[in-house]
Amino acid sequence: MVARDVLYEAARRRTFAVISHPDAGKSTLTEAIALHAKAITEAGAVHGKPGRRAVVSDWMRLEQARGISVTSAVLTFSYRDILINLVDTPGHADFSEDTYRVVSAVDSVVMLLDAAKGLESQTLRLFDVCRAQGIPVITFVNKWDRPGRDALELCDELAARTGLQPMPLTWPVGPAGDFHGVLDCRDGTVVRYLRTVGGAAAAREERLDPTAAAAQEGAAWSVAREEADLLADSGGGIGLERFLAAEASPVLFGAALLNQGVRQLLDFLVDSAPAPRPRADVTGQPRHLDAPFSAFVFKVQTGMNPAHRDQVAFARVCSGAFERGMVVTNTATGRPFATKYVQQAFGRQRSTVDVAYPGDVIGLVNATVLRVGDTLFAGAVPVRFPRLPSFAPACFAVARPADISRAKQFHRAIARLRAEGIVQVMRSQRRGQGGIPVLAAVGPMQFEVALHRMEWEFASPMTLEHLAYTVVRRLVDPGQRPLVDAGWRSEVLEREDGTELAVFASQIELAVLQRLHPHIELDHLVGGVG
Ligand code: G4P
Repeated sequence: MVARDVLYEAARRRTFAVISHPDAGKSTLTEAIALHAKAITEAGAVHGKPGRRAVVSDWMRLEQARGISVTSAVLTFSYRDILINLVDTPGHADFSEDTYRVVSAVDSVVMLLDAAKGLESQTLRLFDVCRAQGIPVITFVNKWDRPGRDALELCDELAARTGLQPMPLTWPVGPAGDFHGVLDCRDGTVVRYLRTVGGAAAAREERLDPTAAAAQEGAAWSVAREEADLLADSGGGIGLERFLAAEASPVLFGAALLNQGVRQLLDFLVDSAPAPRPRADVTGQPRHLDAPFSAFVFKVQTGMNPAHRDQVAFARVCSGAFERGMVVTNTATGRPFATKYVQQAFGRQRSTVDVAYPGDVIGLVNATVLRVGDTLFAGAVPVRFPRLPSFAPACFAVARPADISRAKQFHRAIARLRAEGIVQVMRSQRRGQGGIPVLAAVGPMQFEVALHRMEWEFASPMTLEHLAYTVVRRLVDPGQRPLVDAGWRSEVLEREDGTELAVFASQIELAVLQRLHPHIELDHLVGGVG
């Protein structure tokens, strides 16, 4: 494979994710995007929403019971000769750690807002992760077909709460609930939509030049024009460099359910969102796109195929060309890893991958030795990408095997869940250094998944004793551990990577400790609350 091909292939890729609060319309938007790109022919094909055609069904009983999608999948399709990798994120807040890892594997993010609700807390928390990693963010205001808030007010909120300068790319003609079409802020034309039944197919569009738009849309057009100009004049003109530097966010409006405003989003992604860029290794050196193959694992998932229990490690290609059958090295172990079975996932359907380039996501099947954060490389010179710092957990529980005679299986299974990033596993000196793990999670549903998998998949049911800690800090100096452990409602939990977390029942215990020992050094964690 000549280097030029790798650079060419990388340049024609766009790898992005959609982040949003549950119910803002992420699944609907994902389908609308795939529909526009003609990757599917009918909405409902990917996520199998109730009432729409379900091609692929949920794989876990828990998911079915809850009616939520716990897992991430990658949708890959072409649009205007560009290869799009849309990395899906779990919708539920409890899985924001998973979303956080996905964000580390993409080149840009679409932040999806519900027109009636604006920026919700979960979206803001996920946005913080994009900011920490300098990922460019595009804002899509959804559900404009329903009554909602004022467009300018939404943009003000975006600026005030994220610090991103909103750049109007399209502006709604008509207020929320009376959506006529969108104004293209760059050339003043208006795209009007002709409704399709139930949003099952791409919306039919009619483009009006500014004169025709002014004549036919009258006041709605003038208001849209004035508002968009007002925002542009206040510093929100289209400045791509500021978008790429993650200082400004292009804003588009639409209704994903009716497939309106979605083509403009897709066109912007193709025209202006960043293609894969060189990724820095642990030493801070950027790994050139045409260097030998390298990738990092951002997700490990078990049991995607209910027919036979398998395990897929999803890795983002960072450099070079990947060819199926290649033997690569896992930097963490120094061991070779044969890539005979590699897949691409489309919803829950998968196809074999023969070749992949920077920006692509490959699913390595039966990769039981791979863990989240591992780097894979080809060639003689090893590379290691920085491990992702773990998200701040908010729930803690002591785990014990329900059947003590199966302790060995229990520990093996816990190690598996940890490797997949389902839960964080910690030790506490207070509870004896030996075997008793304390599980930590961002949200309680992660515990439910762990309990479910222990019972059904590993045949090693466990019990959880929940610990009432709500405040978490990183203990900077391990020598100060006894100060925290001496507290009645606080303790130190040690993470596998050596990080020591000081956990407290409430802010009061934290304040008391700080008053008694003002020199104690405690840091906040990524995504931390409390
Ligand atoms: P999520 O993945 O972010 O959780 O959201 P999802 O796409 O499931 O959408 C949540 C609800 O919002 C769905 O309604 C969906 O139809 C609706 N929705 C999404 N986009 C739009 C839009 O542009 N306009 C309007 N009016 N509604 C939208 P539901 O009743 O919960 O489910 P369903 O039966 O319609 O699938």
